[in-house]
Amino acid sequence: MKLEVVVIELDNRKRLLLFLNNFASLKEMLPLLTLLASCWLAQGVSYRKLYNDAVIHFKDPDFEAGKSKRLTSAASNLLRDTAHYKAFKKNAVFVQKHNRENNLKWVATINEFSLETDEEFSHHLGLNMTREIDEEIQRVKRRKRSIVDMEEIEELEAREVDYRSYLPPIKSQGGCGSCWTFGAMAALEYQINKDRPVDGEMVALSEEQCVDCTGSNGCGGGWPTACYTWGHYHYSHWASSYNYVYEGRSGLECRYDDYKDGMSGFKFSDSSAQYVYQSDEDVLYAVADNRIGVLSCAIQVADGFSSYSSGVYSSENCNGGVNHAVNIVGYGTLNGVPYWKVRNSWGSGWGDGGYINMERGVNGNNLNMCHLTEFAHYPYIEGSDDGQGSGTESEAMRFECGDGGQAEYRGEVNQTTSGRTCQKWSSQEPHSHSYTPESYPYGNLEKNYCRNPDGWTNAWCYTTESSKRWEDCAIPDCSLEKWCSVSDQVFLDKLENSTRHEDLNSAKTDCYTNENCSGISQLSDGSYQLMTGTLTPAEGDGLTLQKGVCKQLTPPPTGDYCKMENVTLTSRMTSASTLQEAMQLCRYLEHCGGVSGREGSFTLFYNRMSSSDVDKDSWFKDDCPDLTKCGFGKQADYRGNISTTVSGRTCQRWDSQSPHSHTRTPENYPSSGLDENFCRNPDGWHTPWCYTVESTRWENCDVPQCENTASVE
Ligand SMILES: *[C@@H]1O[C@H](CO)[C@@H](O)[C@H](O)[C@H]1NC(C)=O
Ligand SMILES: *[C@@H]1O[C@H](CO)[C@@H](O)[C@H](O)[C@H]1NC(C)=O
Repeated sequence: MKLEVVVIELDNRKRLLLFLNNFASLKEMLPLLTLLASCWLAQGVSYRKLYNDAVIHFKDPDFEAGKSKRLTSAASNLLRDTAHYKAFKKNAVFVQKHNRENNLKWVATINEFSLETDEEFSHHLGLNMTREIDEEIQRVKRRKRSIVDMEEIEELEAREVDYRSYLPPIKSQGGCGSCWTFGAMAALEYQINKDRPVDGEMVALSEEQCVDCTGSNGCGGGWPTACYTWGHYHYSHWASSYNYVYEGRSGLECRYDDYKDGMSGFKFSDSSAQYVYQSDEDVLYAVADNRIGVLSCAIQVADGFSSYSSGVYSSENCNGGVNHAVNIVGYGTLNGVPYWKVRNSWGSGWGDGGYINMERGVNGNNLNMCHLTEFAHYPYIEGSDDGQGSGTESEAMRFECGDGGQAEYRGEVNQTTSGRTCQKWSSQEPHSHSYTPESYPYGNLEKNYCRNPDGWTNAWCYTTESSKRWEDCAIPDCSLEKWCSVSDQVFLDKLENSTRHEDLNSAKTDCYTNENCSGISQLSDGSYQLMTGTLTPAEGDGLTLQKGVCKQLTPPPTGDYCKMENVTLTSRMTSASTLQEAMQLCRYLEHCGGVSGREGSFTLFYNRMSSSDVDKDSWFKDDCPDLTKCGFGKQADYRGNISTTVSGRTCQRWDSQSPHSHTRTPENYPSSGLDENFCRNPDGWHTPWCYTVESTRWENCDVPQCENTASVE
């Protein structure tokens, strides 16, 4: 028989190559073929089968002597040559021995990691503490709690705490050393999700954003807090893993700018993380406190850890350094053994549904199993109310402006663009409405401040004038130029006692940190003077800049534009650099029919359309598609009559409270088109959905996106 190569697909990533040679007969090949066939089966089945075969094999008394009979000749000899076989043998022997122990605290199993060489396995880890991080930890770590209230400890230890239902399903880092991003995200996800109803879907945040953007080593390893530091300095813009999908590769471009949906309504209030005191006891205090809840932790993955199946894991071999990031998500006691509930990032097929119970110390006995409680930390999130104080001054200033939809705006502007006073969100006078602080807990609907709770293009409010229901607000835009040139007749008053600056940049910095400063004027001697007040006529000599109020100078867009492809407008009018600007301008130019272009360069066109095969994106003022057939973006505008979910379940009527009672009623959401049992998106979810008439509470619906659907004359 000739040399053959057989490839066993063990999962998407890994292949076991076997070189078969010199089979004497088909009969001799049979055991190996059985083994190979089992490997091609679904993973769970194949490992089990492989294990069973191996156990028979290893049980053979001749095994030690290297003369096993059962998997005889061909199979074992050939397999034995590969590094994978060696790894598998080591693990299988471990599993078999371990599970025979008396007083077995935890059960080991063969799983997808059992075949991996040490080198391959190391790619499922990826914790790397640099000297800088170590120094930071020394700086922020607090001393051990000195007074311990034993009664309180006993009370806490008697509880069972489990935050798993506030976290998205278990994730998998695959063969990328990115455990640090998973550890960081789970602790952050808990902070975002902790006030949500447990029966809803939980926000899942993007690990890939952290891999791509932080400038750490990506799949080469890092420390969880790098994600938080980056987020803090980037306006807490974090994508959901739904939008910014995990790829498990280093070296991809940072694409966070495309999606900022993950942390909307929340922000990092500090660039570092809060480290918990360093003992089981102190971590107990933190985990029992549901404002802290889930912790990001560092552990040493020692022998046997990867084979965990059930019970309470413990090891006496954790004498090295930490190499893996996990999360403590709760604690309890199992068969008299106290444990921490620990979340891993190796998929739900590993361990106990992706989790592992690790032994916990009690009564002041600090077990610190495999360093689990030594580096425990969690992010500083505004509103997480951990008694550590809120954001820094510079952070507060950032949220005086908004990016994109301005959903994160937390400033105190209480007037619309036309100067009308805003109505309080908690009031139903003069306008009754459903955007109440209770219905939109993440919208931060404080007082009568301009906010964007509903995915509108920018912050807005109801007005106190009964003739004008609502209007947009002029919120400084963080993403655009923060300084606008103020033209001609509009000037500001001089700010008393302010420093004159020779340098424009230093004037800008000074102005930005002075709350009374609203602009800068250049005087005839060339120096810059800080100005105060808004848009009142005053003396000015040269250049005049206004701080962050660009939107007051151009009216915001209202109404709909339809996005269309493969069509274009003819006859240029003028151009604009951003889509928003182009739309604003088009809205105000009577004969403008639409805008077309790409980021950085948009052109406004007259109202004449013609078919053509241009590849540019175009938006039109008129000729909107039929919203009973499709929807735009999150499809809150969809008004069609699809009434079954993605899995084919029938939708419950919105005006019915049976079988599921709920608050998404037509009365509460009067403008969301909650007719009959049609799929709708009243609450800013990423797609239309409905409650179902079955036991499944709710599900997404599949509604077509409005694209290429508008008809052209
Ligand atoms: C840890 O990170 C540092 C700094 O990025 C790097 O120089 C070092 O090689 C990394 N160590 C490991 C083991 O990956
Ligand atoms: C609007 O905000 C300003 C400045 O914060 C405040 O002085 C004023 O009282 C507010 N007006 C109303 C009606 O809330």
